[in-house]
Amino acid sequence: MVFSIDTALMAVLFILPAYFANATPVLLGGGTPIDLRRNFFDGKRLFGDGKTLRGFAAGIVSGALIAGLEAYLLPGTQFAFLPSPQLILLSGWMLSLGTMLGDLAGSFIKRRLGMDRGNPSLILDQLFFLFVALAFAYPFAAAVITIESFIFLVALTYVLHVGTNFAANKLGLKSVPW
Ligand code: CTP
Ligand code: MG
Repeated sequence: MVFSIDTALMAVLFILPAYFANATPVLLGGGTPIDLRRNFFDGKRLFGDGKTLRGFAAGIVSGALIAGLEAYLLPGTQFAFLPSPQLILLSGWMLSLGTMLGDLAGSFIKRRLGMDRGNPSLILDQLFFLFVALAFAYPFAAAVITIESFIFLVALTYVLHVGTNFAANKLGLKSVPW
């Protein structure tokens, strides 16, 4: 298969619910942490203060809304990355759920490794959610998750991570550019 501009664009449209689910909690999160401030057996927090109920819910809902929009708009166009609106919807919902559970699992692992909240880990912060999201969506979206699109999405997610953190630092939203 040739990896054309069209396949790249379709890969971006496919992954969009995951990106929305991942980004929304930063803007809308806060309040009660999911672990209710409880510790694990090792005496460290289960997930930490960075994982809140509101952020979790906001992430799932925003990703699910994008999936709904795509399922409505894309069928019948050249960018319909799956053959039916139902598959586009289910794929997007599973991406949203997988993103938020993967994000939670990433924080769980970070806490077990003794990393404080906000301590950056490229794999656990930015790529782990992607892998979990893709695994969740795979039963519905195997047709779009090719080796080519997988490599493309890993690279794109990495570049977006570096780019958004650099921009957030320049805008004064973050004290460090990573
Ligand atoms: N956030 C949230 N609820 C979630 C996920 C994220 O409220 N389920 C918000 C929090 O304000 C969090 C911010 O989004 O601080 C950035 O998310 P993330 O980088 O995943 O969390 P960190 O604070 O870096 O914590 P961790 O070290 O556990 O990743
Ligand atoms: Mg973080």
